[in-house]
Amino acid sequence: MNASGGWERLAPKLDATRRRVRSLEWEPARRNSFVTYTVERDSAYADLDGRRLLMMSGYSYLGLAGDERVVRAAQAAVELYGTGNHGVRALAGSIPLHEELEAEVARFAGRDRALVFGSGYAANVGTVGALVGAGDTVLIDKYDHASIVDGCRLSGATVTRFRHNDVDHLDRRLAAASPDGIRLVIVDSVYSMDGDIAPLPELRRVCDAHDALLMVDEAHALGVIGATGKGIEEHFGYTAKVDVKLGTLSKAIPSMGGWVAGPEELIGHLKYAARPFLFSAALGPAQTGAALESLRILQQEPERVTHIQEESARFRRTLNDGGMRTGDSETAVVPVIAGSDEAAYDYATACRAAGVIGLPVVTPAVPNDLARLRIAITARHTKADLDFAAEAFLKAAAECGLIPA
Ligand SMILES: Cc1ncc(COP(=O)(O)O)c(C=O)c1O
Repeated sequence: MNASGGWERLAPKLDATRRRVRSLEWEPARRNSFVTYTVERDSAYADLDGRRLLMMSGYSYLGLAGDERVVRAAQAAVELYGTGNHGVRALAGSIPLHEELEAEVARFAGRDRALVFGSGYAANVGTVGALVGAGDTVLIDKYDHASIVDGCRLSGATVTRFRHNDVDHLDRRLAAASPDGIRLVIVDSVYSMDGDIAPLPELRRVCDAHDALLMVDEAHALGVIGATGKGIEEHFGYTAKVDVKLGTLSKAIPSMGGWVAGPEELIGHLKYAARPFLFSAALGPAQTGAALESLRILQQEPERVTHIQEESARFRRTLNDGGMRTGDSETAVVPVIAGSDEAAYDYATACRAAGVIGLPVVTPAVPNDLARLRIAITARHTKADLDFAAEAFLKAAAECGLIPA
């Protein structure tokens, strides 16, 4: 077959993507994907086509993305080590900063050791693949992040999904699982599209009853839940323990990278068995330095965590009092439900006109008719910002017919 024949066969797939995007983003005002924002370093505002809008969908939970200390730490790391590590950690890629960061992550997570990956995605894919394979069973919550799902698919293990946060369903699934092999249960601490929290103590009880390991993705929990932002174990008063703790350095921590923390032997195994760690370049110096400094600031300034928790609760209450649904959210992730995919786009467009950026999340990322704007409250949002935002979201909702005018 000649080359053009190859492209012809691919064309329907490319066309389907183009049509899907166009069906929601048919004019500039409705564009929500791949929009370039110029975010102000010292506020939660961003410039979009010459207009100053309040960013309400960014993940910089601790508000440290433009922090002078973090910027200086990144600059110092570049001065010392240059801009790249030119290799994988196992060969020429390791620098002392990696080890400092891993020691800090381990201390923060309350574990013996930690390992840092190039991204949170890589951490999930690599860890799942290193823990389970053919003959093993992995059980995942229906709403687990895509990187967990992809890790499971690649691992070759038998994958079973249980209903969201439904521990009885997990119990039944575990009872029906193969009696042989490793059993690994994986959940998100905080679900990124819903903002609800996994029921850790009950999950621990069921895992123990079935000899299963429990792995938890703290991507949206680090810096956000628990009195000092330490995540799900702290949130539940350290009444239950996770076996494998994992997270990213790209949300509350304003850098790049992912981490896994656990016992010495586990981390020793991952270093040689997690393929995205073994076969992908080491985290760059700037990212490593920025992550390390941010983690230190988080521990020195717990008031950032308190602000996120108090202001998220207040923001949700204001929206609910105004008639908007925010699902089961109990964290900084606040879904503002619009309904159909189209309704979510209409609503996002009206919000932008009212001065706030709330980005729509549509199917298949969320169930049918539960398309939403996925809002994230950060330490960068002042009380006044959030009052303005709540008013804008309610005004736009009334304009779109989501609540009475
Ligand atoms: C729950 C969860 N896990 C993992 C990831 C991947 O993290 P990263 O963006 O650092 O690759 C994300 C990113 O959105 C996430 O929400």
